Amino acid sequence: MKIGIDKIGFYAPHLYVDMNKLAEARNVEPEKFTIGIGQEKMAIAPITQDPVTLAANAALGILDDEDKASIDFVIFGTESGIDNSKSAGVYVHRLLGLNPYARNIELKQACYGATAAIQMAKGHVALNPDSKVLVLASDIARYGLHTSGESTQGAGAVALLISAEPKIMALEEHSAYLTDDIMDFWRPIYSDKAFVDGKFSNEQYIVFFQKVWEAYKAKAGLGLADFEAICFHLPYTKMGLKALRTILDQGSEEDQERLLANYKVSTIYNRNVGNIYTGSLYLSLLSLLEQKEDLKDGSRIGLFSYGSGAVGEFFTGILQPDYRNYLNIAHHSNLFESRKEITVSEYERIFEETLPVDGSTVELGIANDPAAICLSGMQDNMRLYVNKLHKTM
Ligand code: CAA
Repeated sequence: MKIGIDKIGFYAPHLYVDMNKLAEARNVEPEKFTIGIGQEKMAIAPITQDPVTLAANAALGILDDEDKASIDFVIFGTESGIDNSKSAGVYVHRLLGLNPYARNIELKQACYGATAAIQMAKGHVALNPDSKVLVLASDIARYGLHTSGESTQGAGAVALLISAEPKIMALEEHSAYLTDDIMDFWRPIYSDKAFVDGKFSNEQYIVFFQKVWEAYKAKAGLGLADFEAICFHLPYTKMGLKALRTILDQGSEEDQERLLANYKVSTIYNRNVGNIYTGSLYLSLLSLLEQKEDLKDGSRIGLFSYGSGAVGEFFTGILQPDYRNYLNIAHHSNLFESRKEITVSEYERIFEETLPVDGSTVELGIANDPAAICLSGMQDNMRLYVNKLHKTM
């Protein structure tokens, strides 16, 4: 039985900052951000969007009534969750009107969370072939204003429906994974911003990639020639390129050209959104699938997942017949086109906005947010959400 990605959706908030303007405001050369880091635009979440609403908006675009009835497991991968106890997925469950006879959990291991969710979903479907699992990958990446990580922030979510006989990509058997207790990036429970040892994190990302790639080759007996493309976790688009370059000499000139060209296509969406942490790898996959029109059915795609702290995994999938017919290309292109640029000072003001932590009531201006699902306020230490389509509170 084939198991894999049946549907894939994406959502980013409607606001962004131009990286050239951020560079100017931070007194650095724009090319550092646009070439050295490889980012053009950075998605900014208004206070009316949080990891719950981003995920719900991503899933809203792909699920039909039949999916909603047959999903019996929701797994929410995030490292910027809103509650230390309750799964963010439970809110999404209600906002989307999913079948209540289902499991729902939140998973955390930095940017690796969604990959763990997909592997767990695969096991669940193997045991329950009629099940569908909704995997949500949603984050707001925050390092702080004027920090060296600032240019690698972003916000957004990817929703994946995992099922038997998937229409888009079947996951293959082999995968290689690795854990090592390191402090390259972390976020203590008392902080809403990440701490990072930037250079060390770059170094470890590459070390993890090389180790899981070698372990994967030994398990699967495959090499670069067997891959049409390799997608990477992309904290910023230059990062995956640095890792890819370290193994390119294992392939022919043709392999190198193909992998580099496809890498570029796989970074288009990320370049315009920024780091969305656990969803980044899947945003890159989406970019490749939607933006490379001549990618053939049957192609093997490699996926490198990295979650600081750290866990890494390399696994693969095969594109299914007519997979392009099941993508949401027009919807995603409309989402990108309808975004609004904000100034650096507007971004700074939004970045500093906070929700009450003393139980007081606040009502937020959701009329300014075009998203269907928004955070509408807080009351008694509870977040209030609205689905404008259903008027669900
Ligand atoms: N023109 C072109 N390139 C330029 C340039 C110019 N005018 N000026 C500088 N550059 C280049 C530099 O040469 C450098 O390129 P290389 O890395 O290829 O050498 C690049 O721009 C970045 O310059 P710096 O290294 O000086 O940048 P920095 O010290 O400000 O920090 C960073 C960069 C370490 C990525 C920092 O933004 C950061 O800490 N980000 C958060 C951590 C992160 O994303 N780590 C990635 C791995 S960890 C992970 O993947 C998990 C996760 O999601 C966080």
